[in-house]
Amino acid sequence: MNLSTKYSACLKGELLCPGDKSISQRALIIGSYLNQESIISNILSSSDPIYTANALNQVNANLIFNKLSNTVKIKRRQIPFQDPEGPLDLGNSGTGARLLAGFLSGLGINATITGDKSLSSRPMKRIVEPLTKMGFKLSSNNHRLPIEIIQSHGGSFFEYNSPISSAQVKSSILLAALTGSIETKITEPIGSRDHTERMLKHFGADIHSETQNDKNIIHFFPSALSTHDKDYYVVGDFSSAAFLIVAALISDDAEILIRDVGINPTRSALVDVLKEMGGNIELTKAKKVSNEEACNILVKNSQLKGVDIGGHLIPSLIDEIPILSIAASFADGKSKISDIGELRVKESDRLNAISQGLNAIGIANVTSETSITVHGKAGYIEQTDNIESFGDHRIAMSFLVAGLKSKQGITVNNCRNIVTSYPNFVSDMNQLGCKISEVK
Ligand code: S3P
Repeated sequence: MNLSTKYSACLKGELLCPGDKSISQRALIIGSYLNQESIISNILSSSDPIYTANALNQVNANLIFNKLSNTVKIKRRQIPFQDPEGPLDLGNSGTGARLLAGFLSGLGINATITGDKSLSSRPMKRIVEPLTKMGFKLSSNNHRLPIEIIQSHGGSFFEYNSPISSAQVKSSILLAALTGSIETKITEPIGSRDHTERMLKHFGADIHSETQNDKNIIHFFPSALSTHDKDYYVVGDFSSAAFLIVAALISDDAEILIRDVGINPTRSALVDVLKEMGGNIELTKAKKVSNEEACNILVKNSQLKGVDIGGHLIPSLIDEIPILSIAASFADGKSKISDIGELRVKESDRLNAISQGLNAIGIANVTSETSITVHGKAGYIEQTDNIESFGDHRIAMSFLVAGLKSKQGITVNNCRNIVTSYPNFVSDMNQLGCKISEVK
């Protein structure tokens, strides 16, 4: 599915932010483990959480997904988790595949995890290795999917020094520790998003985090979860809001309000970076819901200036680099984003995808294996060839936002996977005044 879009004179309006994808996945997994009648509300009804819910139901969870009301009803399981009859297909979802690998290993069941072409090309050694060190038996296809989990039991204590800052790796290990009752200590070089830790704490787990010499250390002790607070509300997805925020900033005339956006500090560093670039962004009505911070975000069009970022900041805006590159494209001056080698192994090689897309819209850029330099250019995009999304939802949405700067209009190829994270992206953008439509 190709989408085209073009310049709009103004963006105005108010939207409720769609539920957070990372948190939705965790609520399904941890919620099914708690095994009591409960409701997850404001869940993201996109294909990634739906694949995860289906996989959980295949091992005997009792999840009823209502996509119209964005709720999941969790019913009690009458019998324990069990081996699935067939492979568990996680579609495009790296979070689903990696978190379930840990969760199912600890449960001591047999299962095979598969995924689509993109997911099947992504590295899995990063979870297979620590889970194996924990004492579980897994095999992979040369460090890629399918992963086969073979019924086994872990040890009683596990300590892991993670070579990368990855919430998926950390969470895979923590979920194996939860289901396998293993005291576990994980050190990450820089703290990655901490939704798993927060949710486990919310449901009464004995889990603690501390920072030592910039490293993040998490200590989990097995204990019964206390589940007096059964229901769970998923806050809005900052990564989805990021597209709306940048769309408003680069517009000629914009004032938009996004309500109920999750602003967990391990996820929302883009706000500070965009403010440093001169973005007019106001956070109001801060609150805490289900142990996650949320607020409303008011954004007005702004003339941005270039920025230079890297290092410790990167894990807290790792999914926002594509849309930050678009902000940088229309800023005054040069921007450099360093230490982003992880982008090479996301849903696509995002560094390459960003660079090719920027070339297509006439924005000079230079990439290395781990960085990109963008030469910002105030003004509009000239005539372009179609832009390739490489089937990557965040690349597709980023270049559709860039289309706001094209008076002739641009087309982005292969936008189907927007449904993995933000199914209402086109209608939300158009509600604000954009002109995105399908190319027949
Ligand atoms: C996620 C963690 C990040 C992020 C991904 C979602 C999660 O991946 O890029 O979109 O839900 O834990 P890594 O853990 O590989 O950095």
